[in-house]
Amino acid sequence: MKNLLHSKDLSKREILSLLDRAEEFLETVHKRKRLKLADGKILAALFYEPSTRTRFSFETAMLRLGGEVISNEGMNETSSAKKGETLYDTGRVVSQMADIIAMRHPEPGSALELVEGARVPVVNAGDGPGDHPTQGLLDLFTIRRALGRLDDFTIVMVGDLRNSRVVHSQCELLMNFKGVRFILVSPEALRLPRSIFKELSKKFKVEETDHLEAAITGADVLSHTRIQKERFSTETEYKKYKGVYVLTPALMKKAPDSMIVIHPLPRVDEIDMAVDKDPRARYFEQVENGVAVRMAILAELLGL
Ligand code: NCD
Repeated sequence: MKNLLHSKDLSKREILSLLDRAEEFLETVHKRKRLKLADGKILAALFYEPSTRTRFSFETAMLRLGGEVISNEGMNETSSAKKGETLYDTGRVVSQMADIIAMRHPEPGSALELVEGARVPVVNAGDGPGDHPTQGLLDLFTIRRALGRLDDFTIVMVGDLRNSRVVHSQCELLMNFKGVRFILVSPEALRLPRSIFKELSKKFKVEETDHLEAAITGADVLSHTRIQKERFSTETEYKKYKGVYVLTPALMKKAPDSMIVIHPLPRVDEIDMAVDKDPRARYFEQVENGVAVRMAILAELLGL
């Protein structure tokens, strides 16, 4: 692996080897330890879109590996992008200082332009409504830890399937496995992009519905997502869908005892806080998993 730009680029072997490596790092994360593996290496985190978890997670991962971090969370406002610098030049320049770059940007495919200029590995930390491979990987990691497998299970994906890059990444990554049954729950206008839907349908049993309650009864994994406010052209348009699917304790009663709930966070209103104490809720645990998975990704790309 030279860069990690798109979920599609990963083979099953690469996915599994990253997840196995992440298992090894989990204890370091859990015990809040610091390794010496990345001693002397620097991660540059370039964020052109808001983030809490992802940027801190990359930074924590690099620090726990024993490396250092340079970071800007307001690239669109406070970097030379404001003066008109291209992503190509930014990639080229930052490569003179850092050993690896993680970038989040509102434009799908933008990481490719940065890669052209970059002389060090680049990780896509989310490109608009496109892809979010590191989140997808940590979701698979969480699923595998809970179910013990990534084949033969039922996943219910609910929310803004059109705009959620996390859902897109989950679909692309799961394409490498077998016997996954997908139940896609969304309003008609927020359905999964047709290109991904067609690809999935070639290999798997895929159902689309707008009814969450019926879908949940046979689920092994419930993957919930926020309605992606920033991808709507108007506030009125967003408000049409805000709050369409709220996971409540009453709904959780209809779900199997062994089901897990994953969500990349941030949540707005789509999971009632009362669900947090349900042992099936895994969204906070996912955050810790994310650090271990990003440690594995950084270590792999840095050749450590
Ligand atoms: C997600 C993202 O940025 O795509 N958050 C994250 O990375 N944990 C999900 C979201 O913003 O809804």
